[in-house]
Amino acid sequence: MSLDAVLRRIDEDLPAATDRLLHLLRIPSISTDPAYRSDCDRAADWLVDDLRSIGIDATKRPTAGHPMVVGHGSDAGRHLLFYGHYDVQPVDPLNLWERDPFDPAVEETPAGQVIRGRGASDDKGQLMTFVEACRAWRAVQGSLPARVSFFLEGEEESGSPSLVPFLEANRDELGADLCLICDTGMFDRETPAITTMLRGLLGEELILTGPSRDLHSGAYGGIAVNPIRALARIIASLHDDQGRVTVPGFYDGVAEVPDEVQAQWRALGFDAERFLGEVGLTTPAGETGRDPLHTIWARPTCELNGILGGYTGDGFKTVLPSEARAKISFRLVGQQDPLKIRQSFRAMVQDMLPSDISVEFHDHGASPASHMDISDPAFEKARRALSDEWPKDAAFIGAGGSIPIAGYFKTILGVDSMLIGFAQEDNAIHSPNEKYDLESFHKGIRSWARILDALAR
Ligand code: BES
Ligand code: ZN
Repeated sequence: MSLDAVLRRIDEDLPAATDRLLHLLRIPSISTDPAYRSDCDRAADWLVDDLRSIGIDATKRPTAGHPMVVGHGSDAGRHLLFYGHYDVQPVDPLNLWERDPFDPAVEETPAGQVIRGRGASDDKGQLMTFVEACRAWRAVQGSLPARVSFFLEGEEESGSPSLVPFLEANRDELGADLCLICDTGMFDRETPAITTMLRGLLGEELILTGPSRDLHSGAYGGIAVNPIRALARIIASLHDDQGRVTVPGFYDGVAEVPDEVQAQWRALGFDAERFLGEVGLTTPAGETGRDPLHTIWARPTCELNGILGGYTGDGFKTVLPSEARAKISFRLVGQQDPLKIRQSFRAMVQDMLPSDISVEFHDHGASPASHMDISDPAFEKARRALSDEWPKDAAFIGAGGSIPIAGYFKTILGVDSMLIGFAQEDNAIHSPNEKYDLESFHKGIRSWARILDALAR
């Protein structure tokens, strides 16, 4: 039977597949930093060439930002649109990396072999699991078991500014029966997963300005207003002592998760102590009285992502700063409306400003939560295919992170998304020493090969 031959081919080709991934990982495609613009372009070129090598008619498509890669296969069958992103997060703090983030390698660790480097997990390694599965099908069968198109983005890690205009301008070309997205994780090392809920994301930056220049904190201290103090007060007031967010109207549209879904989640046996213990913590810090897994998958948050003001270099300086800044993000669930929350948040900040402090707001994206419709039989087929590959049956899970495109595929293209990925929680995505287990890569490729086969039946 051809699936067995395809799986064997994947096993034999693993060293070569790993080399191809290492090649892609050497290209520092950091989308948020303009210094890496030409590298993003190079990563897109590399992918175009690689897709062409497996018979996909791929092209690099310019946007106002980084290019998209779009490709179409010519096989018959259900039309699947695969999405992944080739851009990566910045690498700072660089001094905490144990190797050059863009000189990736397969390392031996006590827990097995890992591919170490920026983007190994998020998302180059994951996106190549699908490409390699297609390569194996083509090598063995001469064709793919479905009509597959590719849509690879280079701006996911910087808020996807070109995405919506691109989808709108290419609606007909990108239409498909189902989107496949490989940018999520497994539930644990043994349990594969299909992610059915993603949180939305609202990004805000505030710049508070007081005096017209930095002042001497002795000469002016006490009489001049201090923007860091005003900012600290605003930040401290964003949560109440139950850990709830205080922005007026914030919880509008947040629904309780149905009992049967909560029961399924409880059955997964999430161990919060272990989860926190791995990152040096002991105590869930969110809203009081909420189940820990539930807080990650189904409750909204307000997080402080960065804060800056005054003198932050070595040594000490008695400065009364002119300016203070903060970057704040909100994870959203259910029907929460990002634009309403932005308005309400900004009004709340304005109301708290002392005399002589002004505020400037910068918009860092706004996307609602998304819930996948899993009524398409493809979901059950994929769940069974995943269960055949891994020790435990696949679970339907939520995810705390955000992949705004899943929502746009539905609202702009009218297509549902199936989110399957093989990342583990210790992959250190966005952090120093990011890695992808060689097992995730190998069994991830095998999983997609099985899913392609199952969807064609
Ligand atoms: N792959 C992640 C999303 C993710 C993380 C899904 C964890 C499931 C679990 C994605 O690349 C990402 O990091 N997205 C950003 C949002 C983007 C708009 C900057 C995020 O979630 O912060
Ligand atoms: Zn990602």
